[in-house]
Amino acid sequence: MNIVFFGPPGAGKGTQAHRLEDNYNLKHLSSGEILREVISTGGNLGQEIKDLLDKGQLAPDEIIIKMVSERIRHHDCSQGVIFDGFPRTVTQARALDDILADCNSRVDIAIELEVDEAQMIERIRSRIRESGDDVRHDDNEQTLKNRLAVYRRQTAPVLPYYVDKGLLHRIDGMQSIEDVTNDIKRVIRENVTG
Ligand code: AP5
Ligand code: MG
Repeated sequence: MNIVFFGPPGAGKGTQAHRLEDNYNLKHLSSGEILREVISTGGNLGQEIKDLLDKGQLAPDEIIIKMVSERIRHHDCSQGVIFDGFPRTVTQARALDDILADCNSRVDIAIELEVDEAQMIERIRSRIRESGDDVRHDDNEQTLKNRLAVYRRQTAPVLPYYVDKGLLHRIDGMQSIEDVTNDIKRVIRENVTG
């Protein structure tokens, strides 16, 4: 089973993907984490990606598509993947279909976590407070505004792609973490695993 998570910064994509991966024996793949790993290795590519992420802009499609494509061929993805933050453009969504088709697989369900802007800002503020010295470079008020604008402009238009395929389910991400998990499990039960 392959699941795609959508939602603005702070919607709870990472939190929920982490809670679900063991339950369904899936691999949680965060495209943001993949990019942050590249940044930590340095070099020209790392610097290029850092400059984009620090501004809240997306990494180029061809770069992230290549990275995700290589990553999901690893053995630990063979039972399926929870995609957290990928695809973020329609080009990426089409590429993901092609990559999975190559492995005789497909996206089984897409889940959008809906959270209002005030809650999103509050959650990122508390993550900044809790992260101490390990605070994410892009977790600051200005970059957060850009990340949200980029989500609306470039990622929200991907949602109709999954609506057209009958795969998109919207979940109220304003509930408690536990209640969001339970809603996601119900949607998976009703639509994928039976
Ligand atoms: P990414 O790492 O994906 O960041 P993001 O989308 O901005 O989302 P966050 O990780 O901030 O939020 P989340 O939804 O995971 O929430 P979380 O669970 O942490 O991407 C970073 C950057 O990389 C992008 O801006 C872009 O530049 C680049 N990038 C990534 N993917 C790309 C792609 N495909 N193409 C091109 N560029 C790409 O929760 C947030 C906080 O809230 C936590 O503290 C958590 O404990 C708390 N929380 C969660 N759920 C609840 C709840 N229900 N109630 C109360 N608190 C909650
Ligand atoms: Mg995340």
